[in-house]
This record gives sequence, C-alpha cells and structure tokens, in this order.
Amino acid sequence: MTDPVDDLIAFIEASPTPWHAAHNAAGILAEAGFVPLRPSEAFEGVESGFVLRGGSLVAWHGAPGAGGRPFRAIGAHTDSPGLRVRPRPVHGSEGIVQLSVEPYGGLLVNSWLDRDLSLAGRVVVSDPDAPGGRATRLFHHRDPVLRVAQLAIHLDRDANDGLKLDRQRHIQPIWALGEPGPGDFSAFLASEVDVEPLQVLSWDVQLCDVQRPSRIGRSHELLAAPRLDNLCSCYGALRALVDARRAGRGAVVVLNDHEEVGSVSATGAVGAWLAQVLERVAGGNGGSRSELLAALSGSMLLSADMAHATHPNYPERHEPSHHVAMGGGPVIKHNVNQRYATEAATAAAFRDACGTAGVPVQEYSHRGDLPCGSTIGPASAAALAIDTLDVGMAQLSMHSIRELMACSDVEQMCRAFTAWFEND
Ligand code: CO
Repeated sequence: MTDPVDDLIAFIEASPTPWHAAHNAAGILAEAGFVPLRPSEAFEGVESGFVLRGGSLVAWHGAPGAGGRPFRAIGAHTDSPGLRVRPRPVHGSEGIVQLSVEPYGGLLVNSWLDRDLSLAGRVVVSDPDAPGGRATRLFHHRDPVLRVAQLAIHLDRDANDGLKLDRQRHIQPIWALGEPGPGDFSAFLASEVDVEPLQVLSWDVQLCDVQRPSRIGRSHELLAAPRLDNLCSCYGALRALVDARRAGRGAVVVLNDHEEVGSVSATGAVGAWLAQVLERVAGGNGGSRSELLAALSGSMLLSADMAHATHPNYPERHEPSHHVAMGGGPVIKHNVNQRYATEAATAAAFRDACGTAGVPVQEYSHRGDLPCGSTIGPASAAALAIDTLDVGMAQLSMHSIRELMACSDVEQMCRAFTAWFEND
C-alpha cells in the first residue's frame, strides 16, 4: 500500500487544471484494470469502466443500476479557483508585456500576488490524422514565467489596513520585458504542444503556482499545497473505488468540472451527464431504465469537498458549537437551507461507515449570520433524485493559491470512503 499523502502530492503536482486532473484520474483507473470508454462508444458489458469528458469523469464498478440493486457513490470536483487567460491575451505598456487574465471562481486574489507562476491547459490543434482534423493536447509548463506584482507599500500606504484589489486592473500578470507581438501567445502554446503556430486553433489556459506541495509543521503533520479543494477529495474517491473493486462491490465515482462557478455545464453536477452515463452503464449490463430508477431510490451519494477548520486567529467566525479540527477526521456538513444535501439518514449511514473504519467524525454547521458556501451535493441530489450527504476534510485558507490541511486526514478520508463503498 502506497502512502496516501505521497500519492495525493503526486496527483496534485500532475494536475494543475481540471483537464489534467480528469486525465490523471483516468490513468489511475486504467492501471487498476478499469476499462476506458469514449463518450461515443457503446457501454455493452463493461462492468468496471470509466468515461472521461473534458475535465470530468464517471467511473463505476459492479454494473451499478442493473438488476435494481442499490449502490453507493462518491462525487467530487476537479476544478479550483484561479486566473484564466483570455482569448486575446497579449498586451503591453511601460516596456512590459502582460497577459490578460480573468478570475475563475471565488479565488482569494491576494494569495496570487508576488508568486512564481506558470501556465497549464489544453490546446486544440489542427491534426490531419485526428478525427475531424482536430486534436486536443494538454500542456503543463513547469518553469515560472509569470508574476502578478503587488504595488509597493510606498505607493499604497493603506495596504496593511485593508488591501483593495480590482479584479480587472490589479491582477494582470507580467510575462516579459519588451514590446508585445500579436502571435506571441500562439507561438508559446505551439512550442508547448509541439506543433507549428498556425496549427494552434483554440485553447483553455490557466495560471498555476510552481511551488511544490510541502509537509510542514513541527512534525511535518500538515500538508501545504495548491488545489487541496478539491483534488484531495478526488484522490480519496478514486482510491476508495479501486479498493472497492478489489472487494467486488458495486460503486460509482463522479468527478465534475465547473463546481467553483456553479456547476451549470455539459458535464457539471447541474445537468444530465451523470444520469445519462448511469443509464448507459445499467443498459450495457442488461438492466432496464426502471431497474436503474429502482436502484437509485435506494442508493446513496457521498458528495466530498473540503470543509472549514476552525481558524485559531478568527474563532468568532465559526458557529460556537460546531468547531472543526484539522486532524479530527472527516466532517459531515449540515445546512437546513440545502446548501449541503445532508439528511439524517445519509449522515447516519456515513457515521456507520466511519465506525467500521475506526475513523472519528466531526460535524459542521455554518453561522446563521454568514452566507454558506455550497458544493455538488445538492445539485447531484436534485439531478438524480438520490439521497446524498456532504462530507469534507478540514482545511484552512480555502480558495487560496496554497491551502493547508492535516496529513492524517488524508489517510482517515481514504479509510472512511472505502468503508462507505463496502458498508450496506
Ligand atoms: Co470545493
């Protein structure tokens, strides 16, 4: 058994974007014997497989839905807040070349200042050998090439009394010295994916931190890393699915893109994709639609996303009776207004799984005077009419470029998720 924290670090480092995360998830599943299927392919007789589409992936084992038997599922999201490059990015002034970027999701903008940044994404290139004459290629530039420079304290004397950052003007990164050229960015992408600049047709590109994840703290008990929200949960779901397959149990994992921007997309949690895939999996294994619907009515989805640990510098921001500790095990997230999908029955089932795994459980409830965040749980529950709960691992600095969690929670998450699949 490999160390889950080392595995998670490797997964995060290899996954600067949701497209990389889904691609690497596919690699983990293929290595474990799951059959890769293209979205356009028939799913006939594939009992353990997965289908990858952009930054999303659905994987299954044990022909879920066929025969009307209930199954267990885990969902998580592949995307993280950050800065994305606009379609016409290159501009310049003051002898400095900059890229034009747009905020994606609810990032903590200040955390992106004065860091060594790079670029990663997917590029669609013309390729006569590919279907339709076009191919999509991923790239991840490892060297630092960008910086969002903060204004000097001498020019912003109020910076330490409440930093104000305009999300149009103050986040544009510096790329080079000199004068901008119109084809500069296509030329950069072309060299990244090994084509001629004229072959670059289109792209989705985002900025990423080049600093590697670190184990920090007196005994290295903490993990500081980008994108813990929510690659940590993606990793836990995949590892549990691989373990469930070894145990021969039926199970589903869905990894959705676009959670940080509301989940409304072709493969987001608000939408038809998961339901369509499940219908094809059940049908491909001899099950009818009504068997699938019967199975769903007795099934449960665990929506896994990160949770807010109580911040020692700001304890007053947390609900007094629901403090959450890093290292205290998975957190059941409750919200009576359905920002989280947890209900008594699903919470009880997860408590049972944690009991089986010997893992402690915590409970989170948001303050009544602060708006509560949400996740894919309520959206997936609505799309599938499936009983759901929201669970997370405790972290600090959520939506910062570099987040923080306890190493021990990674291991406890893996055990709890495996028991979730194996329990009745
Ligand atoms: Co999240």
